[in-house]
Amino acid sequence: MRDFLYFAPLQSFTDHHFRNAFQQVLGDVDGFYAPYLKMSNDGTIKEGPKLDVLPKNNPFETVIPQLMACCTEDFLLMANYLADLGYSEVNWNLGCPYPMVAKRDLGSGILNKPEKIVQILHEVYIQTDLKIGLKMRMGYEDTSDILKLLPLLNDFPLTEIIVHARYGKQLYNGPCDLDRFEEIIPLTKHDLMYNGDICTVDDFRKLKARFPSISRWMIGRGGISNPFLFEMIQEDNEQFPDDWQEIFSEFLELLLESYLKETSNEGNILIKMKHYWEYFAEGLPEGNYLSKPLKKVKNLKSYQDFIASLD
Ligand SMILES: Cc1cc2nc3c(=O)[nH]c(=O)nc-3n(C[C@H](O)[C@H](O)[C@H](O)COP(=O)(O)O)c2cc1C
Repeated sequence: MRDFLYFAPLQSFTDHHFRNAFQQVLGDVDGFYAPYLKMSNDGTIKEGPKLDVLPKNNPFETVIPQLMACCTEDFLLMANYLADLGYSEVNWNLGCPYPMVAKRDLGSGILNKPEKIVQILHEVYIQTDLKIGLKMRMGYEDTSDILKLLPLLNDFPLTEIIVHARYGKQLYNGPCDLDRFEEIIPLTKHDLMYNGDICTVDDFRKLKARFPSISRWMIGRGGISNPFLFEMIQEDNEQFPDDWQEIFSEFLELLLESYLKETSNEGNILIKMKHYWEYFAEGLPEGNYLSKPLKKVKNLKSYQDFIASLD
C-alpha cells in the first residue's frame, strides 16, 4: 500500500499564501490542513483564520479546515461557518499545548477530560452533517490520557485520528513517545495518522519500519525546513532534485507575491520571510550558508534581489 503524506497546519506558516505557492511548484502532498479557527473574547470567530479558509483563497486542492473549541456552542458556530463556505469536513484541534489555551480546556488541555470530549462529540454530531476528524496529542500531563480516550472514540463515525506523539506539557521539547504510539494502534478502529519529528527521509524510513500498519503520515516543521521532503520520501531518495534551487526560488517568489497582494506592510512581510528562513536554513543543503546574506537584508527590494540570486 502506498503511503499518504499530509502537510500539518502550522499557524503563521502554512497559511493560504504558503499552501498556494507550494502547490504551484512543489508536490507530492496528499492534503493540507489549515491552521485552526478560534473564538475571540467577544464571541465571534477570529478574523485571520476566517480569511485563510475562504474558498477564493484556496483555489487548488481542497484543504481540511480546523477549529479549536471546548464547548458545543463554539464548535457549532465555527463548524457552521465552514459548512456555509462549502466545506464537508472539519478537524478538531485537541493538540495545542500552550498553557494559556490548555488551562481553558482548549487544545491538549481537554485530553484529560475524556467525558467532556465525548459529550461535545455527541452533541455536535446531532446538529451538523459535517464529517469530523481529530488531531491530538497523546495527553496533557503525560502520554497516558489517550489510553482511556481512544476506546471511547470508537463509538463515533470519525474520519480519522491524527496523533502527534507527544503530550501537551512537553510543548515541542523532548522526544516523541514511540512506545506509546505503538501501544495505541490496536485501541482504535479509526484511520490513524502518525505525526511528529519527520524531518528527513531517514526519519520516515525508521518510523515506517517500526509502524508498518500505518500508511498516513503528517509532516509539519520538516516540510517547511525542506519543502522537497514530501517528494523525496515518496521517491525514497535522500538526494535533492538537481534543479531544486530553481524550483525553490520560484516558490519564494510566489510566496512573496501572494503576501504583497494582501498587504502593503513591507516590514511585516520581511519579518515573515525571515521567519520562514529560520526553517529553510535548517533543512536545505547548505541552508545556513545560503541564508547568511539575509542578515543584511533590510527592505523588500534587497530581499527580492536575494531570492533572485538563489537560482
Ligand atoms: C509554529 C507552529 C504552529 C502550529 N500550529 C498548529 C495549528 O494551527 N494546528 C495544529 O493542529 N497544530 C499546530 N501545530 C502543530 C503541528 O501541526 C504538528 O503537530 C507539530 O509541529 C508536530 O509535527 P512536526 O514535528 O512534523 O512539526 C503548530 C506547530 C508549530 C511549531
